Amino acid sequence: MIVTTKKLFAHAYGKYALGAYNINNSEQIMGLFKGCMDSKAPFIIQISKGARAYTDKRMLEAMIRAADDIFPDAVFAVHLDHGDEQTCYECIESGFYSSVMIDASHDDFAGNVATTKRVVDAAHAKGISVEAELGMLGGVEEDIQVDEKNANLTDPEEAKDFVAQSGCDSLACAIGTSHGAYKFSGGQGIHFDRVEAIQKLLPGVPLVMHGSSSVPQDEVARINAAGGKLKEGAKGVDPNQYLPAAKLGVCKVNIDTDGRLVWTRVHREFFQDKPEDFDLRSPGKVFMPEYAKFIASRNELLGSANQLDDVREFVKTAA
Ligand code: G3H
Ligand code: 13P
Ligand code: ZN
Repeated sequence: MIVTTKKLFAHAYGKYALGAYNINNSEQIMGLFKGCMDSKAPFIIQISKGARAYTDKRMLEAMIRAADDIFPDAVFAVHLDHGDEQTCYECIESGFYSSVMIDASHDDFAGNVATTKRVVDAAHAKGISVEAELGMLGGVEEDIQVDEKNANLTDPEEAKDFVAQSGCDSLACAIGTSHGAYKFSGGQGIHFDRVEAIQKLLPGVPLVMHGSSSVPQDEVARINAAGGKLKEGAKGVDPNQYLPAAKLGVCKVNIDTDGRLVWTRVHREFFQDKPEDFDLRSPGKVFMPEYAKFIASRNELLGSANQLDDVREFVKTAA
């Protein structure tokens, strides 16, 4: 069942966070749905502009509709990740997305508010939720490069004004995380003091944490042992911090890189062990259950595991 992020957040707020997982192909979709069913978790399936362009956006949409049929108990939102204004309108018009992210965080405050408000007006007219972003994450965000040194955390006062003026339903904040596999080289992590300050001025407003992959070091080591050349030693977000962040209003935790690492490890090890194999289904059969196991483990840490039955009842009555 496809629902809005607004309804999912209303159930989760202050208690747990929803995993927002990026998908690109059928194996990821099957693994994601299976992992969420195994852990009895509601979830957010998110599609980036790059994913929409990879095969064909209609292909992804059809596969998600099929997964909705195959797993009739699933409760999830379909979300556009890091949309520009035009892509947001396309997704709103498509009638398939229940939530879009307008990422105008590279604009100045007034420009970000204005763009976000236009998208909010179009989305709300169709009952679709809107996530906006304020502040600059470190690392690489789609085609926008942000120097990690200049990454600036979201200002709580600005966040309050931004939500009031734009009318967005949830806010992605820069709180120390960055996209990709190389987030922290030392003891850095989530800036909890900043999350707390933002929540204080925006009580009840769902916050979103981008760049939340944990970049498991054993996964990186296995990839490199099987011929990969990923930089070792750079850590991700400590997944034991997902739940403390959720208690401070972080309702959506974006995870993409970790899924790519699972895919890379499975395929590198598979072809290293079986160099004579050339059947694409063979590693795919290993990847799907491995990805499902990874997703279930994340849902446990997010606190979304075992919320499914309760959420199903809740969304029937929630506005
Ligand atoms: O934040 C970006 C996501 O990881 C999506 O990445 O644009 O390569 O699909 P992508
Ligand atoms: P990661 O690169 O940490 O997985 O973050 C993904 C993300 O924020 C997608 O919007
Ligand atoms: Zn992101």
